[in-house]
Amino acid sequence: MSAIAINPIYRAVRFYEAPIGKKVVMAVTGVMLVGYVIGHLLGNLQIYSANPEQINRYAAFLHNPASAIPLWAIRGVLLLAVVLHVTASVQLWLQNRAARPIGYVKKDDVPASYAARTMLWSGPIVGAFIVFHVLHLTVGAVLPLEDINGNPNTPNVYENVILGFQNPWVSGFYILAMILLCMHLYHGMWSMFQSVGISHPRYTPKLKTGAAILAILIAIGNCSIPIAVMTGLLHL
Ligand code: HEM
Repeated sequence: MSAIAINPIYRAVRFYEAPIGKKVVMAVTGVMLVGYVIGHLLGNLQIYSANPEQINRYAAFLHNPASAIPLWAIRGVLLLAVVLHVTASVQLWLQNRAARPIGYVKKDDVPASYAARTMLWSGPIVGAFIVFHVLHLTVGAVLPLEDINGNPNTPNVYENVILGFQNPWVSGFYILAMILLCMHLYHGMWSMFQSVGISHPRYTPKLKTGAAILAILIAIGNCSIPIAVMTGLLHL
């Protein structure tokens, strides 16, 4: 065997060049991103605490200058995960298209769920949502953000979320994006096992059910916040 063939970087590049390499990258980065979405949701559900200060204390902890290094490290890893996830998905799509230049004559022959068929556009819309969302609640480019005692390290998240979701267009866009995220997560979570070759008639239906339950719970938790603001359950 030549020296180049056993070089680990060469082997990793060769592995990534094959469809399975890209699918593994999508699965690993997908798991990291789902982990973030669940953690973020659990943090956001503190908005229902009897004490509105609870979520603001949590935000102040995250924004504490002492948390800056771990916070930026996590942001960097997540950003890298997003870039790799998107790059691998686009490359995989291009590779599949090049392998099948003449498209199926009858698309109906290929059974695919609605969620599967929407992967290619639910992904970009969820991506657009994340950009809007960061501009909205992190950067303050959509509405000026309130903070406590003029200190940007202690954002008034409770007030910012409520003021933001009092706008029906903003709430409507969030709810639409959460439904698309739910479909994207459902399909992504069960099909990643299929993509890396883990498929069995006994386990695949269970994986599908588990993915559906998790995706729906995430959607209910996220959608509940704009709905609670719009219905006046959460107010200033
Ligand atoms: C109704 C649902 C959601 C609410 C109420 C919410 C709330 C927030 C708030 C208040 C912030 C700013 C936190 C701070 O500066 O301390 C934030 C940041 C963020 N959210 Fe959400 N979020 C929601 C859904 C989501 C979803 C579904 C995703 C991903 C798909 C997401 C991704 C992010 C990201 C990436 C940031 C920036 C984090 C950072 O600054 O490091 N959020 N969110």
